[in-house]
Amino acid sequence: DQREPINEQSKDKQLETYRVDDTGQKLTTNQGLRVSEDEHSLKAGVRGPTLMEDFHFREKMTHFDHERIPERIVHARGFGAHGYFQVYEPMTEYTKAKFLQDPSVKTPVFVRFSTVAGSRGSSDTVRDVRGFATKFYTEEGNYDLVGNNMPVFFIQDAMKFPDFVHAVKPEPHNEIPQAQSAHDTFWDFVTSNTETAHMVMWAMSDRSLPRSFRMMEGFGVHTFRFVNEQGKGHFVKFHWKPLLGVHSLVWDEVQKLAGKDPDFNRRDLWDAIETGNYPEFEFGVQMIKEEDEFMFDFDILDPTKIWPEEQVPVKIIGKMTLNRNTDNFFAETEQIAFHPGHVVPGIDFTNDPLLQGRLFSYTDTQLSRLGGPNFHEIPINRSVAPVHNNQRDGMHRMTINRGPVSYHKNSLAGNSPEPASEKEGGYAHYAEKVEGRKIQARSDSFKDHFSQATLFWNSMSAVEKQHIVNAFRFELGKVKTKEIRQRAVDMFSQVSVDLAKRMAAGIGAKAPENTSDSRVTLSSPALSQMNTVKTPL
Ligand code: HEM
Repeated sequence: DQREPINEQSKDKQLETYRVDDTGQKLTTNQGLRVSEDEHSLKAGVRGPTLMEDFHFREKMTHFDHERIPERIVHARGFGAHGYFQVYEPMTEYTKAKFLQDPSVKTPVFVRFSTVAGSRGSSDTVRDVRGFATKFYTEEGNYDLVGNNMPVFFIQDAMKFPDFVHAVKPEPHNEIPQAQSAHDTFWDFVTSNTETAHMVMWAMSDRSLPRSFRMMEGFGVHTFRFVNEQGKGHFVKFHWKPLLGVHSLVWDEVQKLAGKDPDFNRRDLWDAIETGNYPEFEFGVQMIKEEDEFMFDFDILDPTKIWPEEQVPVKIIGKMTLNRNTDNFFAETEQIAFHPGHVVPGIDFTNDPLLQGRLFSYTDTQLSRLGGPNFHEIPINRSVAPVHNNQRDGMHRMTINRGPVSYHKNSLAGNSPEPASEKEGGYAHYAEKVEGRKIQARSDSFKDHFSQATLFWNSMSAVEKQHIVNAFRFELGKVKTKEIRQRAVDMFSQVSVDLAKRMAAGIGAKAPENTSDSRVTLSSPALSQMNTVKTPL
């Protein structure tokens, strides 16, 4: 069972073995028994009760009763498509990942776009972050890039993720409100956890209102690591850039569409692919040499910070094309299981404390969402590279693993790991040197919650700034607790006094007292010129 070279059709060929077409067929039960009718249950006499022995009725109803699985705890509403990825030039100097070497190879991908906060049946065009998750079916196994359409995140440490999501989701006592942001708990969290400032600026901007999934950027957010054949590492951040450019809806359109066409974004993607207008995204990387890790006045492991492109340019290295819609939403889009921990040789993690927590969370949630430890065998999740190990049994096991040996080491079956040093050898973790005391703090620059939020505000045009002000006014205008509204004005005065004054005027809060806005005088976005650490509120 050798690894085969991958091509654009590899995943499709694998899925073909699972496809079923019921068109024109005689109906049967799940046991293959042809049924003679499918409308009336078996009864004792024309007016009598239904009989227990009607196995066909029982099976049909039981299956229906169990059709739903839990929706994702976050990113429940999503839409996916198939496609392929091609690298433009060999990335050998930086990474040994096979799918980043040969420009002639088309690696199959599946992408799922999503909103974060809403339930599965919510509306597409709400103010929210969008998920942008890509599964590459590579020759070396699945590689998942589980990103968002914004380059930073609300929090710095995974420990706060459950708190953050509880604050964002509808309130537990009454499941109100369903809309993101417009409630006391969200703004209470934001103003109590000021590391959210930068991401909230993105969330209040037009980036939260994508016109189309085809017109969104994607970001890996965290700092990952490229490792080349010689074992040399580079810090790396991942980017997707849509060839159609980045475009947003305006607030008025968003509100109308949410009522009139809740499927606006998913329909747009489906129709574009059906009509041959295949969405395309270029793949970019920002890279920092290991020896330059401490050259910046922010910690490059802080997921609330970008690496300004003026300082670390984005190198475009490939392109992804989405060219095939799903056959079945549930089988593919709903059952797909992404995980930032699905990596291939040449790609590794860093000690970003948000990423480290994600590495635990995804498989854990999928164990309950997809019913047990064998969800890697669901067709959409299957790697195209062959799978062999000593795992056995468990709920819904599909493979029939033959022979008496299911342990390592053994002398009977002769199966074994392949050392990383061998050609096509196994994955070996990057031997990063780590030392220190067990501690719950991070470096000091993690406490700078505002400099890059200011950088973002300053990079906006007048119109974009007005949209941000309007968004703050709308969302905070819904907050019942006066103190939270005031705290928000005070907090964002650390980003820009101008912004805070304009916010305050729209929500009945007190404007900040300073009259000048020292931060808006920055002449260049270069970090060397940014304000230094500010103490959080
Ligand atoms: C989905 C956890 C941060 C992007 C999920 C899911 C969980 C989760 C439990 C549901 C997975 C499933 O049911 O299959 C976390 C935790 C985080 C975190 C604990 C921080 C500690 C992030 C960040 C990003 C992100 C920073 C973006 C870089 C996504 C995406 C999905 C997702 C795109 C949806 C994947 C899909 O389409 O199936 N996350 N997440 N998450 N997360 Fe995160």
